[in-house]
Amino acid sequence: MSNQPLDSQQANEQTEKRRILTGITTTGIPHLGNYVGAIRPAIQSVQNSDDEAFFFLADYHGIIKCFDPAQIHESTKMIAATWLACGLDPERVVFYRQSDIAEIPELAWILNCSCAKGLMNRAHAYKASVDINMEKNDVDPDHGITMGLFSYPVLMAADILMFNATHVPVGRDQIQHLEMARDIAGTFNHKYKSLFTLPKEMVNDDMPLLTGLDGRKMSKSYGNTIPLFGELNPQVNGEKQLHKAIMRIVTNSQAPEEPKNPDESTIFEIYKAFATADEISELRTRFEAGIGWGEAKEILFNKINGEIAPFRERYEHLMANPAELEEILLMGAEKARRHSRKQLDKARRAIGIKPLAKLKK
Ligand code: TRP
Repeated sequence: MSNQPLDSQQANEQTEKRRILTGITTTGIPHLGNYVGAIRPAIQSVQNSDDEAFFFLADYHGIIKCFDPAQIHESTKMIAATWLACGLDPERVVFYRQSDIAEIPELAWILNCSCAKGLMNRAHAYKASVDINMEKNDVDPDHGITMGLFSYPVLMAADILMFNATHVPVGRDQIQHLEMARDIAGTFNHKYKSLFTLPKEMVNDDMPLLTGLDGRKMSKSYGNTIPLFGELNPQVNGEKQLHKAIMRIVTNSQAPEEPKNPDESTIFEIYKAFATADEISELRTRFEAGIGWGEAKEILFNKINGEIAPFRERYEHLMANPAELEEILLMGAEKARRHSRKQLDKARRAIGIKPLAKLKK
């Protein structure tokens, strides 16, 4: 075989506009790990490129694991306010709420009918839940597992294929879902009509995974996170909450003047995600010379707060004025629906669902 087709395909990939799409599940409170690992890089990468970008609040994914309506609602509001406060430009990025795009669950149903059940049986998230049940005696392997959890990769495929996204920034745990989206797209394209672009995952391997308060990976499920703008309690000032959380980072019992190993310190590790190379080496020197944990925490607090204080002001404004948020999201939905209405119509026609006749007026 000649190299020709590959070369021209590569050339194509470089010249054609990329369409980036990613979803943020609406459960929980945005924390420093989300900021460093997802929010900041995503916003910077769209600012520095001419990629088309679609970012959305995945609230229909939120209800898979969270059954608390108030939490779903509040989390959607906080996540929308966080992304906008951190600099997401809703004129530049199509920023919308999944549930405003009724075409998405409709497409998900159509894709369900082209998706092998066996493919879903192999999904990691589903298998992990089955494994937990299997460890217990006398428990049905599917105990507590909803159809939502089982078929959620199909909804995710609909999110992506609806907009013919070319590149999807995700965490490592989502790579399998991208493989499934390609599989589902390929089956539909082959069975009916070539309608869907096969999307690629974008996994950033050099992105640091932040360490949490207790020294384990910062994660909502460990309860060790540092909230970006503070918890829901508006009575307590967000800056004080950040300070308090940083003071709770677990350290060892070394005396202030003892030399410390920066590479074993959560404080230093988080600092690296916010500071310049010079600032990092300066703090390293101070650790090695001996620095009190309290002082190191103050340095960390000032560094983080310096970056996010301007965002916090905008965040608090948006949280206090949810009508502004609502308006921005509805504007995003209007833009998204210009695509989704057409794409759904094509999918329906491809499977044989269309008007029986054109009506004369
Ligand atoms: N499932 C993704 C997560 O947990 C969130 C998500 C939903 C998503 N739909 C998406 C990500 C579409 C990328 C594209 O992180």
